[in-house]
Amino acid sequence: MDSFTITRPDDWHLHVRDEAAMQSVVPYTAKQFARAIIMPNLRPPVTTAAQALAYRERIEKAVPPGVDFTPLMTLYLTDVTTPDEIKRAKDAGVVALKLYPAGATTNSDAGVTDLRKTYKTLEAMQREGLLFLVHGEVTDPEIDIFDREAVFIDRVMRPLRHDMPELKVVFEHITTAEAAQYVTEADAHTAATLTPQHLLYNRNAIFMGGLRPHYYCLPVLKSETHRRALLKAATSGSPKFFLGTDSAPHAGQMKENSVCAAGCFTALSAIELYAEAFESAGALDKLEAFASFHGPDFYGLPRNTTQITLRKQAWQLPERLPFGAAEIKPLRGGEELAWRIV
Ligand code: NCD
Ligand code: ZN
Repeated sequence: MDSFTITRPDDWHLHVRDEAAMQSVVPYTAKQFARAIIMPNLRPPVTTAAQALAYRERIEKAVPPGVDFTPLMTLYLTDVTTPDEIKRAKDAGVVALKLYPAGATTNSDAGVTDLRKTYKTLEAMQREGLLFLVHGEVTDPEIDIFDREAVFIDRVMRPLRHDMPELKVVFEHITTAEAAQYVTEADAHTAATLTPQHLLYNRNAIFMGGLRPHYYCLPVLKSETHRRALLKAATSGSPKFFLGTDSAPHAGQMKENSVCAAGCFTALSAIELYAEAFESAGALDKLEAFASFHGPDFYGLPRNTTQITLRKQAWQLPERLPFGAAEIKPLRGGEELAWRIV
C-alpha cells in the first residue's frame, strides 16, 4: 500500500502546556487530529471548571485560522475536588477527570494520595457521565519502576472497578502485557490508550549507545515482551484500545539535563509513527478504527466525518523546533520516517 485514507483521527491523551510553549505545539496536533483530550497537569493544575474554560479559550486561540480543531477539557482530580465541582464541570463541557497518583509523574504533587478520599466525587462523575482517566502507576518507593503499572492493577484498579462499576475508566498509556490483558478481560466500561513510543520501542531504546533522554517518558518503556503484547492489543480490533499520543513536550534543556524531565514529544509525527507500528504488524487495515472510531465510541461522542491521507514517502523529521523562547526535540528528530500525512 503506497497511500491510504482514513477518517480524521483524534488524540485521546495530549499535553499542550500553556502560554508561548502552547502556541508552538498546538498547531502540530491541530493539523493531524480533529479533537484532543487536553491533560490538566499545568502548574498550578487545572482543578476547576472555571480554569478549564479559561484554558480551553487559550488553546483555541493557538489553533491556526481556518483549522478545525476541538480541545476536549479535563480536570485534575485532587483529594479535595468536590461533587459540586463535577456538576459545574459537566455544565462547562468538561469530559473527564484525570487521576495522577501523587508523585507518579510530571506535575503530580497535587495529585491524589488515597483514592478512597475521592469516592463521593467519583460517584458524582459516575452520575454525570464524566470519564475517569487514570495514570496507572503506584508510587510506593519499594516497588521497582518497571513493576509499578502491574502492581497498580491489583492495588488500585481492581478495587476501583469493584466499587465504581458504572464509571467509565480509561487506563492511560498502558505499557505492560498485564495491563493489556486486564483491559481485554474487563467489562465494557474499561478502555485503554496506547502511545506510539510504547508500540514502537522497548526499554533498550533508552540505553542504546548511551543514555537517550528523548526516549524517557512515564510510564517508562518496558521490555520487548510487553511491547509485543501492546502491539497485539492495539492491532486486535478490540474497541477497548485507542490512540492517545501522550505527546508531552519539554524544553530541550529540561530533557538534556542531569535530571531529565519525563515525556516524549510526538505531536508533529504522531499518526505517521502509529502507521509505522501498525505496518510492522501487518495491520494497517486496523489503524482507522484504533485512531478514529474506538475513542469517540467509548467517550460517547460522534465520529469525525472528514478524512486524512497518508502516503509512503520518506521524510526527515526536524531535529529541533521552536518551543516558546526555548526549543524542543521531537522523538526521532533528525531521523527518517516512512509515512507522511498529505
Ligand atoms: C507527562 C508530562 O510531561 O506531562 N510525562 C510523561 O512522561 N508522559 C506526564 C504523564 O502523562 O505522565
Ligand atoms: Zn500524559
